[in-house]
Amino acid sequence: MNFKISQKSSEVTVNSLVSIESVLQYLENIQPKVVFIDKAVLESNNVISNVLGKLELEIFVLEDPERDKGFAKLQQCYEFLHEINVQRNDTVVAIGGGATTDLVGFIASTFKRGIKLCLIPTSLLSQVDACIGGKTAINFLEVKNLIGSFYNPNEIVICTEFLMSQDKQQYLTGVSEIIKHALITSEAETDYIYENIEAINQRNTKSLEEIINRSINIKKDIVNEDFLEAGKRKFLNFGHTFGHGIESANVENSILHGHAVAIGMLMALQYSYDQELLSKNDFNKSSNLLRSINYDFSKIELDPNKIYNFMKSDKKNSSNQSISLILLNGFGEPVIYEETDTNKLLNFLNTFAKDFEK
Ligand SMILES: NC(=O)c1ccc[n+]([C@@H]2O[C@H](COP(=O)([O-])OP(=O)(O)OC[C@H]3O[C@@H](n4cnc5c(N)ncnc54)[C@H](O)[C@@H]3O)[C@@H](O)[C@H]2O)c1
Repeated sequence: MNFKISQKSSEVTVNSLVSIESVLQYLENIQPKVVFIDKAVLESNNVISNVLGKLELEIFVLEDPERDKGFAKLQQCYEFLHEINVQRNDTVVAIGGGATTDLVGFIASTFKRGIKLCLIPTSLLSQVDACIGGKTAINFLEVKNLIGSFYNPNEIVICTEFLMSQDKQQYLTGVSEIIKHALITSEAETDYIYENIEAINQRNTKSLEEIINRSINIKKDIVNEDFLEAGKRKFLNFGHTFGHGIESANVENSILHGHAVAIGMLMALQYSYDQELLSKNDFNKSSNLLRSINYDFSKIELDPNKIYNFMKSDKKNSSNQSISLILLNGFGEPVIYEETDTNKLLNFLNTFAKDFEK
């Protein structure tokens, strides 16, 4: 895979490399000034620490990227870049999952009003979702992604070998986004995921390369049309209004985002069917696909009132009087549905929670 993404006025090159060794070789060629790397990734493969240590660059290790994605670490990172005298045309590299790429993206977009950025996403979610579309973010006052910017990297490097060391449930969070991309695109894309579900579970390299490539292309095409999320890009929130409600209601249980989104998509599909938007056949097919993934939902609690209250305060609602949902009219036909009948939604959540089998 090697193609260009044009967003706003900038172009992003996406390179697909077969092995971690070739990624390190690539780094040697582009000669970045500094690499920010997730400690778990650094320790997951001896080659990374051995080779990185020999290259002429500075290394900044992020101990716990989701926790580090905030002001305290941000200040340390700026101080570090200042100490090593990073200039505007120097390149910074992020190697890690979405938390790392979000944080380093934000640093690159703000330090000296913007420095060159290369993203090397290492989790499935970051490869198919977080690295595409130019959104950067840090968490603030315990609110996720409250501060951020739109800033494209110059380059993205995708390497499936990184995925081999990812924890199974963490890996499955990326599968949720792949399924979301397929459902909002077409029945053919959904069928393709169905047919390859075993290969996805087994992390088969060849199949993964193709599936990731297709998923990136879907997001890239949407983002190219609507970089600043004024219209079509909102469809990428399919399952996310319900999902964020579930995630916020489970903040004590530290559940995974992709698992909340998977249940959020099941809710959105059921709601679409209940509103007679989605046919029985399409509803069954799409729900069965999601239910065929071995998500561990055991820690997730579905408290309808809590979920509803968080959904009401979702920052993406267009007014105080309604809740904005992305529903499906059919495969590849997402729609924005403004729900004003909040009792109906609350009743739905009660029934769904009662019937849901983990
Ligand atoms: N910018 C965007 O458009 C966008 C989109 C979706 C999500 N996000 C953000 O991305 C983050 C979620 O992404 P994520 O799931 O990658 O989270 P993450 O970066 O926290 O990684 C998840 C876990 O996997 C570990 N990990 C990553 N790669 C690994 C590897 N190759 N081997 C072993 N362990 C590895 C990490 O250390 C971490 O423990 C959130 O902060 C979310 O807000 C951003």
